[in-house]
Amino acid sequence: ASTLGAAAAEKGRYFGTAVAANHLGESAYVSTLDTEFNSVTPENEMKWDAVESTRNSFNFAAADQIVSHAQSKGMKVRGHTLVWHSQLPSWVGTLAAADLRTAMNNHINQVMGHYKGKIHSWDVVNEAFQDGSSGARRSSPFQDKLGNGFIEEAFRTARAADPAAKLCYNDYNTDGVNAKSNAVYNLVKDFKARGVPIDCVGFQSHFNSASPVPADYQANLQRFADLGVDVQITELDIEGSGTAQATSYGNAVKACLAVSRCTGITVWGVTDKYSWRASGTPLLFDGNYNKKAAYTAVLTAL
Ligand code: XIL
Repeated sequence: ASTLGAAAAEKGRYFGTAVAANHLGESAYVSTLDTEFNSVTPENEMKWDAVESTRNSFNFAAADQIVSHAQSKGMKVRGHTLVWHSQLPSWVGTLAAADLRTAMNNHINQVMGHYKGKIHSWDVVNEAFQDGSSGARRSSPFQDKLGNGFIEEAFRTARAADPAAKLCYNDYNTDGVNAKSNAVYNLVKDFKARGVPIDCVGFQSHFNSASPVPADYQANLQRFADLGVDVQITELDIEGSGTAQATSYGNAVKACLAVSRCTGITVWGVTDKYSWRASGTPLLFDGNYNKKAAYTAVLTAL
C-alpha cells in the first residue's frame, strides 16, 4: 500500500495522528491528513479545560469539528482524555472530596455521552503515575482527595457511559520495562483480576536521544498484551533527523506489528511545523508537508 493508513489496515491496524482543529482550514494540512491517516486524536480539544472550563457548562465546538471531519472521511477517533492532572481548570482543584467525585463522574458522563458511539478508544485516565523508581502515584486533585480508587471509579463510570468504547489507561515513560511501567502493569493486572473494566493501555512514546525507543519496547508491549488488554502506541514522536530518526521510527513500528494485540499507532501531529516539541523535527512530514526519511521507514516497516 502507498499510504500509512492503507498499509496499517493491511496489517489489521490503524495509523493515526493528533489533529488540531485550528489547522483544519489549511488545505495542505487537511490533504496530508486525509491521504495518509485513518485515525485521529484531538490534540487538545477534548481535554477538561477545553470542554468544561466552567463547571457543568460544556463546549464541544472544537472537538466536534475534528470528529465530524474524521467521520466524513471514515477515520476512527481516539478520545483524549477524561481524567488528567494537566490542562485541568482550576475550579476542579478547589472542590472537596465528595464534590470532586461528583464532578469527575459528571465530566466522564457528559463528555462520553456527547460522543457516544463515535469513539473507538478513550484515554480514561492519563499520566496517573510518577516518573522515577518509586512506582508511586502522581499528586493530583483526584489522587490527593479521592485516593488510589479514583482510577477504578473513572473506568467503571466510563464503561457505563459508552459500553462500546475501548477504555484505555495512557502514560509516558512506560514504553520500556521500568519501575513506572511496572506500576501500570500491576494496576492492569489487579483490574483484570477483580473485573474492573479496562480494555487497553496506551504508550505515549515521546522519544528523544535521552529517552530513545527502548530495546525492550516490544517485550514491554507484549507483557501488557499478555494480561488480556490491547496495547496502542498513542502519541509517537521521535526527536532527531535523517537516518537515525528513520531507523528509530521503523523500530517502533516493527515492535507494534510484532505484538498481535498492538492494534494501532498514532503519531503526535501531522507536520513538524506544528509539533508541540519545540526543540525539533520529530514527525513524519516536514514543515512543507514533504515526506521525510522517517515516513519512508514507517511505510516500509508496515
Ligand atoms: C500536548 C499538546 O500536544 C500541546 O499542544 C499542549 O500544549 C500540551 O499537551 N501527553 C499527553 C498529551 O497526553 O495530551 C500532550 O499533548 C503531550 C504529552
